[in-house]
Amino acid sequence: MPIDKAVIPVAGLGTRLLPTTKAVPKEMLPAGRLPIIHHVVDELIAAGIRRILFVSSRSKVAIENHFDDYSQLLMALELDGRDAREVGRFDYRQRGIEFFFTRQQVPLGDTKPLGTGDAVAAAESFVGDSDFVVAFGDSIIHGGEEPSLLQRMVASHDHHDAACTIGAWNVSPDQVSNYGILVPREQEAAEADCRVQDVIEKPAAGVTSSRLAISARYVFGAEIFAQIRAVAPAQNGEIYLTDAIRRLIENGREVRAVRVGEGEQRYDIGNHRAYFRTFVDFALEDPEWGPDLMDYLRERIKAEDVDSP
Ligand code: UTP
Repeated sequence: MPIDKAVIPVAGLGTRLLPTTKAVPKEMLPAGRLPIIHHVVDELIAAGIRRILFVSSRSKVAIENHFDDYSQLLMALELDGRDAREVGRFDYRQRGIEFFFTRQQVPLGDTKPLGTGDAVAAAESFVGDSDFVVAFGDSIIHGGEEPSLLQRMVASHDHHDAACTIGAWNVSPDQVSNYGILVPREQEAAEADCRVQDVIEKPAAGVTSSRLAISARYVFGAEIFAQIRAVAPAQNGEIYLTDAIRRLIENGREVRAVRVGEGEQRYDIGNHRAYFRTFVDFALEDPEWGPDLMDYLRERIKAEDVDSP
């Protein structure tokens, strides 16, 4: 059966982007004209996904509203003789795309949700026994040629009958301690698609020579749910998806990594620095206003150069 289900966890608090995210979900911040989450959904649809579950929370209802088909607005614009192209993007129903929503509950006495492992666990009844994709709602994989990263991951997952296939990219040595790091089998270490022998959450310097970081895309078999249930919470109370993946490896199951390719760019919108850069990159690609923005940036840089001694 082709993989047609995806789960997008969007229930995090987005605290690193405060105050921007106090009332606006991080995933709804614009990257160019479209919210980040819209780029994520487009990427999934292009890879053959037709049913998408958002694991959400009470502060994220704007995401549900965004994917509403909004036919009344479309009609109103058409009746006014105005350009309805932008609203036409929301013809998901006609394209056979279905959206589902569930909530990640914050346990009584806790102040925040229990992490990405707990968010994925909330998708168990939606997934049933099929293989499925997990895409974090605050990360975009953009550009490059077909097949996309996700298409290559799904093909590899099927071909190797893997339990888990992870999107991965090489980070610089000083960045290793900020990411979940995949340790590939030595003989496959240089390959674009390799088997993983260990996964280490934010390793300290010198723990591993691998620089292969987990990107925010996964393909899982339904067995991941049993592994998540068996994971002990970390010191901060969170249930890490990486711990569940490590359990798959320990049980001898095949876990693979597929690398982000030439021309593909990974945007992880976790903090303001990353967010500002993401916005500028997407705005510069805007067919209508991108060239104008580029002229503006050039003018600004020229003015800075004149002003600076
Ligand atoms: P992050 O850990 O990067 O986002 O999760 P966060 O928790 O929202 O951000 P900070 O650390 O407070 O700034 C990656 C993705 O997983 C979702 C987030 O919404 C984000 O899209 N997530 C995270 C959940 O759905 N549930 C969680 O418990 C944690």
